[in-house]
Amino acid sequence: MAINATEQTIEQIIQKVDNDAQLSVEELQSLLEITEHKQLQALYACAYRVKACHVGKVVYLRGLIEASNICQKDCYYCGIRVSNKRVKPFNMSQQQIVEHAVLAYEHGYRSVVIQAGERQNPTFVKHIEGALAQIKQQTQNQLRVTLSLGEQSEQTYQRWFNAGAHRYLLRIETTNPELYQQLHPADHSLQTRIDCLKTLKKVGYQVGTGVMIGLPNQTAKDLVADLLFMQQHGIDMVGMGPYIPHHDTPLGKHTASYDEQQKQQALTYGLKMIAVARILLRDVNIAAATSLHALAPNGRELGVQAGANVIMPNLTDLAYRASYQLYQDKPFINEQTALMNETLNRSISALGEKLEIADWGDSKHYQARVKSKPFHA
Ligand code: 5AD
Repeated sequence: MAINATEQTIEQIIQKVDNDAQLSVEELQSLLEITEHKQLQALYACAYRVKACHVGKVVYLRGLIEASNICQKDCYYCGIRVSNKRVKPFNMSQQQIVEHAVLAYEHGYRSVVIQAGERQNPTFVKHIEGALAQIKQQTQNQLRVTLSLGEQSEQTYQRWFNAGAHRYLLRIETTNPELYQQLHPADHSLQTRIDCLKTLKKVGYQVGTGVMIGLPNQTAKDLVADLLFMQQHGIDMVGMGPYIPHHDTPLGKHTASYDEQQKQQALTYGLKMIAVARILLRDVNIAAATSLHALAPNGRELGVQAGANVIMPNLTDLAYRASYQLYQDKPFINEQTALMNETLNRSISALGEKLEIADWGDSKHYQARVKSKPFHA
């Protein structure tokens, strides 16, 4: 196995990518294990070439709406787990969700993500279904809606799809069964999550998944397996980011906040994963996650330079933002400029990229997958 790969072998691996050759598992792992500055820059540049070639020099915007922090799950790493009683619960009304989406639409967005803690009860299902129907109506069906609302039954996924949702994000978190078990209570199941991803695809969604990067006990080999899982399951979109400890969680409570060096390491690992994901998966949409920005002010721009092509500015009403702390030091909780993010426009343009707000930005992978099948109206 090519652990401790020399500069020569990294160069050779990158050459293989440039020649459009498939990489072996060991080669993918070698890329994830790069630590040397020059090699890192070569990896990012290589992934960026793949991005430019397969999805273009474009970054799509999705407006993120955090509709509620109420969650029935109890994941050991997550700040809004049900057992964290320090969280002040909030739950947007149907009207508030619709207003957020319509406001995004009026500001030029053609794609939003509605995210909330997981709830599987009939009231919640109806709440979302109603919001979707109104959004569709009030935006003349011109707004692509991504949902990120956890594990649900096939019937629920179908109802939301019928009501107007187009895409669904459900992170697998990790595909290593032992690690998954360490991170979740016994009633949370990796298999259920895999089944949900299959169901989402069957229903017709553009399907996204992702993992946390740099979890305790996680290896580069695990992360390669995660990326191969995404490839095998024909995933259209990838949303993944570095793990950041939250002090009100079982996993994070004994960890001091990251110091600058740890932040840098977590950021680098996140960027390497984006780069290797781009190299392996090519035409999928990959988000430069907000957690990258939590680790460095230019984290999302670095994400784009490592191969990401989606950014999700947070449009949630400031009154709620501080209560949606999945991890510590989450950025933008006081940022008023989310809607008209001139700064972002400038920084992305400076990379030679076009920041695209008015395009649905469907995943090219999805478009290829359903080439002959028109999208549901
Ligand atoms: N660090 C990084 N990401 C986290 N998430 C939850 N907790 C953390 C954390 N401590 C991510 C999970 C989840 C998504 C909503 O947020 O991947 O799927």
